[in-house]
Amino acid sequence: MEQLTIPKHIGIIMDGNGRWAKKRGLPRSAGHTAGAKLIKSIARRCNELGVKNLTVFAFSTENWARPQEEVSSIINLLRYYLKEIDKYVKENIRIRFIGDWSGFDQDIQDKMAKSEEASKNATGLVFSIALNYGGRAEITHAAKQIAQEVEEGKLAIEEITEQTLSGHMYTAGMPDVDLIIRPSGEYRLSNFLIWQSAYAEYVFMDDILWPDFKVKDLDRAIEEYSRRNRRFGGI
Ligand code: IPE
Ligand code: IPE
Ligand code: MG
Repeated sequence: MEQLTIPKHIGIIMDGNGRWAKKRGLPRSAGHTAGAKLIKSIARRCNELGVKNLTVFAFSTENWARPQEEVSSIINLLRYYLKEIDKYVKENIRIRFIGDWSGFDQDIQDKMAKSEEASKNATGLVFSIALNYGGRAEITHAAKQIAQEVEEGKLAIEEITEQTLSGHMYTAGMPDVDLIIRPSGEYRLSNFLIWQSAYAEYVFMDDILWPDFKVKDLDRAIEEYSRRNRRFGGI
């Protein structure tokens, strides 16, 4: 096989659960269940390949607009999978949750904190799950924090750099995203990692919906990424 370039940070927009279910005459929630099941295999593969960061888009700030029944089914799935964190810890994977936690019930927030704490010493993949996440909300939150620091005299306006902004994102300390993968045939970011993806490579897959996504599809996206010529404005 050709030489692979392993991205330091992969982002995945896990899209197409609803269409997958519809095609089978199942309720949309069945698509979310099927989609959630395979996340672990993808995280494991990233860890195996030496990818340092994987960030998956699980629930957006805009997804609250869906019918209450669908939102509840996603939250219930989240509750279920929060119990599974030990399995990641065993594989030396560190779990993080990015987004506005305050949108969730206290019991969920407590479990999110516990999961981050339980896995904080893992040295392998940093696996971030974006929940109640929106790129614009994230940038707005960062702007408010920076303004606060200026107001308190901790930071001078002239000291504000791009690094200051990056350091106030939920992804502080992580490299920018190198590769964004989106199955389901939609060719958009939908407010995912908009600050961090300024120079990302995009692999949009129109032949697959997220619940059918396999390790080989991750490999195929990394192969495609390896063929790209990244210039960052240079030559
Ligand atoms: C992605 O699948 C999961 C979430 C947004 C929570 P969708 O539910 O968006 O599936 P489609 O796009 O309707 O097929
Ligand atoms: C993006 O998918 C959000 C997640 C995958 C969690 P959506 O299905 O919400 O995006 P749009 O509405 O098609 O842009
Ligand atoms: Mg969708």
